[in-house]
Amino acid sequence: MLRGLALAFALSLAPPAMAAWHHEDVHWGKLHCPSDNTSTLPTPTYGSEGSVWMICTEMIIDAPPRAIYDALLDFRSYHLWNSFVVDVELPDNITRTPDDVYVGMPMFFTVAGLLPDANTTSDEILTVLDDQSAEKYLMNAWRSNTFLNGTLSQAEHPNILTSAEFGRTRYVSYETYYDGPNNPLLFPLKGQLQAEFDQQGLDLKRYVEAL
Ligand SMILES: *[C@@H]1O[C@H](CO)[C@@H](O)[C@H](O)[C@H]1NC(C)=O
Ligand SMILES: *[C@@H]1O[C@H](CO)[C@@H](O)[C@H](O)[C@H]1NC(C)=O
Ligand SMILES: *[C@@H]1O[C@H](CO)[C@@H](O)[C@H](O)[C@H]1NC(C)=O
Ligand SMILES: *[C@@H]1O[C@H](CO)[C@@H](O)[C@H](O)[C@H]1NC(C)=O
Repeated sequence: MLRGLALAFALSLAPPAMAAWHHEDVHWGKLHCPSDNTSTLPTPTYGSEGSVWMICTEMIIDAPPRAIYDALLDFRSYHLWNSFVVDVELPDNITRTPDDVYVGMPMFFTVAGLLPDANTTSDEILTVLDDQSAEKYLMNAWRSNTFLNGTLSQAEHPNILTSAEFGRTRYVSYETYYDGPNNPLLFPLKGQLQAEFDQQGLDLKRYVEAL
């Protein structure tokens, strides 16, 4: 059910030129961070077309996939562990996370560490809640919704959780950026974003392993 909703939503967001893009064509549970800096991974909303660069972090976490999936959606607790996204504002009717989150939910992120002396902010929208364990992976995702429905900067951030040996989880978290007017401003931040993303993964690992 959730999966169907996520798919319908993802497809409804795709511009007409990408009508051929199908979420199901990708084996999400098999994706790994690329070893070179020019490859990109597809995202549920936008696919591969028009992708220009990405940041990606991958690690083994000693916790079950479901616990990590829930921690990623527990936006109200981000301030407890996340050094990158330090605060998340949610709609007024969302009082419990992860229980109340829904596909299409708008979020307002406060992001630390990109500028030396100030936080930056980012409008985001939740795009995927795929918790079908029969699919052998869990995935959630959100995308930039900054200015005119995200057209100023198209980027989407999936988190894919696959069972690994000994009850552990392979965590693959990435953000793919697509060609757009804001890209020349964002690309110079790639190294910084990658470093913050890696740290966010380590923060998550430490947090969920202690739960
Ligand atoms: C945002 O995109 C969706 C899907 O393409 C569309 O239905 C909606 O009308 C857009 N909203 C705005 C404000 O452009
Ligand atoms: C890849 O790395 C090279 C060398 O460090 C750099 O010049 C180039 O801009 C990078 N490309 C991307 C897409 O990050
Ligand atoms: C909150 O509002 C959204 C949009 O109006 C709705 O889809 C969602 O079901 C509501 N959630 C709760 C927990 O009330
Ligand atoms: C960034 O936001 C956090 C959490 O709201 C706050 O504690 C911190 O002081 C802010 N940092 C700056 C430089 O404004």
